[in-house]
Order: sequence, then structure tokens, then C-alpha cells
Amino acid sequence: MNRTSRSLTFMTIGVALAFSDCGRSAGQSPEPFRAVASVDEVMDGIIIPSSQVIFDAVVYSNGELIQAPKTDDDWFGLRLHALAVAEAGNLLLMPPRAKDSGDWSKFSRELTDAAADVARAAEAKDIERVLKTGGTMYTACTGCHEKYIEDAP
Ligand code: HEC
Repeated sequence: MNRTSRSLTFMTIGVALAFSDCGRSAGQSPEPFRAVASVDEVMDGIIIPSSQVIFDAVVYSNGELIQAPKTDDDWFGLRLHALAVAEAGNLLLMPPRAKDSGDWSKFSRELTDAAADVARAAEAKDIERVLKTGGTMYTACTGCHEKYIEDAP
């Protein structure tokens, strides 16, 4: 079984569990999620390490390409890191991490959308698209920090 079909199997199991859980709590007001990590810990544990791999994936120096994914494994790894950031956007939307349902949601969704674009670029093995979508992703990081962190870098 290759890696793609193995992850699809896990996803199928996850979906089946999600539905059965749904059925059990039907009629009540469901509280299916339990946030464990703080915003800072989601940054440190998921968003920073995975986005660093994305930002470092393609590097130009003086107009010359000096760093880019080469093997199938490189591209596959890059895609998984992009998916981790995309899903982390959903984690930021969950209470009690979500600070409000306005700009906080907007930046979190932008992070998810941009990271999903990076994942598609990695799937297509498109170096220029990884660079472009990674740049868009970075604007979601800085947009949120400018609004929600005092003395944002
Ligand atoms: C929806 C808002 C939001 C988005 C999007 C977001 N961040 Fe953050 N980030 C925060 C907040 C809030 C903090 C401060 C957390 C704290 O100190 O409690 C933070 C903190 C950080 C820190 C400092 C962490 C530390 O331990 O000092 C870094 C670095 C960081 N984010 C990187 C990123 C990167 C890279 C991205 C994009 C790939 C990103 N963030 C996207 C809200 C966001």
C-alpha cells in the first residue's frame, strides 16, 4: 500500500468515527471538540515548524534557484507540512482559542486557504507556485500578528 492510499484509509476511518459520534449526540447540543493547546502552543508545535519547511522549500539567490524540492519524498513531505498548517487554521477557529468571530476568523481562514494552495502546488510539483502561495500564506501570518499581538515583529 503506498503512502497516499494509507492516509486515505486513515481519513475514511476518521470520517466514519465522526459520523458515529454525531449520531450519538443527536438531539443534544454537541461539544465535540476539546481544545488542549493554547494559541502560543499551536504556533510553536504546528504552525512555526511546518511553515518554516514551506518558507525554506524554494530559495532564490541573485536570481538563481539554489534550493527546491527534488525527490517525490521532498514534495510529499512539503505537501504534508502545508496540510498541517491548513488544518492548524481550523484549530485557531475553535473556542477558546478564537479571539473573536471577525478578523480573527478571517485571518485563520486565509491561513487555511493559502496553505491548502501550497499543498496543491506541492502536489503539482510546481516550484513557482510554492513560492507564490507561500508568500500569500505569510501575509495571513503577519496580518493576524499586526492586529492581535502588541509589539508584533
Ligand atoms: C489568526 C491569527 C494568527 C495567525 C493566522 C498566525 N498567528 Fe502566529 N500568533 C498569533 C498570536 C495571537 C500569537 C501570540 C500568542 C501568545 O503569545 O499567546 C502568535 C505568535 C506567533 C509567534 C511567536 C511565538 C512565540 O513562541 O513567541 C510566531 C513565531 C508565530 N506566531 C508565527 C506564525 C506564522 C509563521 C504564521 C503563519 C504561517 C502565524 N503565526 C499565523 C496569531 C496568529
